[in-house]
Amino acid sequence: MAVPQKIKRRAAKLRAEIEQHNYRYYVLDDPEVADTEYDRLLRELVELEQQHPSLVTPESPTQRVGAAPAAQFDQVQHEVPMLSLGNAFDESELRAFDRRIHERLSIEDDIDYTAEPKLDGLAVNLRYEAGLLVRGATRGDGQHGEDVTHNIRTIPSVPLRLRGTGFPPVVEIRGEVYMPKAGFARLNARMAKEGGKVFVNPRNAAAGSLRQLDPKLTAERPLQIFCYGVGFASETTLPATHGEILEALKEWGCRVCPQAEVVSGVDGCLEYYGKIGQKREKLPYEIDGVVYKVNRADFQERLGFVSRAPRWAIAHKFPAHEEMTVVNDVEFQVGRTGALTPVARLEPVFVGGVTVSNATLHNMDELHRKDVRVGDKVIVRRAGDVIPEVVKVVGKRRKRPRPVQLPKKCPECRSAVMRAEDEAVARCTGGLFCPAQRKQAIGHFASRRAMDIDGLGGKLIQQLVEAELVRTPADLYRLEKSQLLGLERMGEKSADNLLAAIDRSKNTTLARFLYALGIREVGEATAAALAAYFGSLEPLLEADAEVLVEVPDVGPIVAGRIVGFFRESHNREVVEELCQLGITWPVVERHADDSGPLDGLVFVLTGTLSDMTREQAKERIMELGGRVSGSVSRKTDYLVAGAKAGSKLKKAEKLGVKI
Ligand code: IVH
Repeated sequence: MAVPQKIKRRAAKLRAEIEQHNYRYYVLDDPEVADTEYDRLLRELVELEQQHPSLVTPESPTQRVGAAPAAQFDQVQHEVPMLSLGNAFDESELRAFDRRIHERLSIEDDIDYTAEPKLDGLAVNLRYEAGLLVRGATRGDGQHGEDVTHNIRTIPSVPLRLRGTGFPPVVEIRGEVYMPKAGFARLNARMAKEGGKVFVNPRNAAAGSLRQLDPKLTAERPLQIFCYGVGFASETTLPATHGEILEALKEWGCRVCPQAEVVSGVDGCLEYYGKIGQKREKLPYEIDGVVYKVNRADFQERLGFVSRAPRWAIAHKFPAHEEMTVVNDVEFQVGRTGALTPVARLEPVFVGGVTVSNATLHNMDELHRKDVRVGDKVIVRRAGDVIPEVVKVVGKRRKRPRPVQLPKKCPECRSAVMRAEDEAVARCTGGLFCPAQRKQAIGHFASRRAMDIDGLGGKLIQQLVEAELVRTPADLYRLEKSQLLGLERMGEKSADNLLAAIDRSKNTTLARFLYALGIREVGEATAAALAAYFGSLEPLLEADAEVLVEVPDVGPIVAGRIVGFFRESHNREVVEELCQLGITWPVVERHADDSGPLDGLVFVLTGTLSDMTREQAKERIMELGGRVSGSVSRKTDYLVAGAKAGSKLKKAEKLGVKI
């Protein structure tokens, strides 16, 4: 039965609109409509296509997950081989690369390079004919890859149809499919919960996801793409520089890494390397270096290739996040709340820019899942400020020792170790009797975001606890100069400074004080919520679980911990002593049941504020009942913008958020 013209036109219109929204959302990261509106359009199109199956086209936005599972992937031969890159591991190797280029081109002037992050995913080739995606393939050995078209189609930022008209009739676009850090963490958390295998890193997760035989599984994985080049183009002259090719890719609707830049000379490269290195941990995706490409296409042509890598490009690597080493021992560390953490003592190894000799194994379940034993060869990972961890065992000795057991007694204080049935964590039952717990409780109390006692670090706390000068946080406020002078390496000046810092810490906020107490499950945000809700300490001390769950962010478990904490007489005593010793905070005039002036309002802070730090502003907003979010969205009520505000300000202006 022929489909009426009107319906055909409606389907075409819906497709164009949905495509446009997809592009704004996934490629530009800048949506124009609310999710509900998008869903409505998509639903309408799905319905039309169900009623009139002949309307369905392969590039319809409904067809991203259409294909049935495959038995295996077909091999494809790349039209133009997919090359690899040479590496530079330090500045001198990069300078040597630049020198070779000058020599080969007989040019003295600085060379322009495009500099781009080296994305840690897997390379793919996207073939478009007449603007339609006809094939997506993995790199494979560079000559032949696997046909993963159906899986690639499920990645929302891969255009099924190129935009505009300027693209070549046949074009192969090269890019990197990757999994953003946040998506990776969520995926692994879900896999672990479901008892499945977890991925070692985002790159493996991306590769594993793209190589699923069932495209529906790939579609559930948070994959992304950045396009970084053109492998093949028919009947067209491409732009004369790589920088312009990246611009063209953007015009065709491809997602290009926003960090890509054209830089001048080797010094420009090094400056870029430093800049990206600084940003590395904050980027939402993993990178393992920077790629420099000679910008001018005619230069690239003259330089040509050696074996399987171009002479005109190089990867300048960052220190690796993962390295191999050997487990010398497994010991247990006792944390602030008594949690016993298995820690691998390692043969020291340079990873993530520092030498690492300890790595966490998290808890007994993790340790047994990974089956780490003394003598094993393992991969350790240290990314950013995250504590180094053992990722997996990669080599076992022929005769391995028995699996590591949870100790029955606390290694620090010999109290019993207990593990609640529904918890992954085992704990020392010694409480503040356990010196390890005491030291850390005091360390937490004094830390910057808690009472902020400048200069009271781990070493000093250890001395104070071991000399029995400090048993509880209250003892800090009773310290005398003569006692301090008796400590190792403590001079007049340091003692005075420490006492002054302790004195200064007395003026604080209720939120900081509550956080400093180290109540389990009460982090900074919960402490701030409690302070905002109760305004002062007394009503909080009296509150039972029923009242506490009224506080935003407080559930029954947290409420139980708070009640439990204040029910303990020694905790009450410490709190009372602290107040008597002069700890004070401004009292916010209010009752437990009324609301703060900023109740329910969402703030975003950006730029440099003139009268306070962003941290202080955040505390103040939370005290007054508001919420502070990290990114601007339609839900934002106010953007507080200081000097040098950037993209958040632009976004807020665009969304009409009050500034
Ligand atoms: S260009 C001839 N640009 O690195 C140029 N590659 O070692 C070859 N990669 O297989 C690729 N980010 O998977 C290029 N911005 C980038 C890249 C990048 C990551 C990967 C790609 C390639 C490997 C080469």
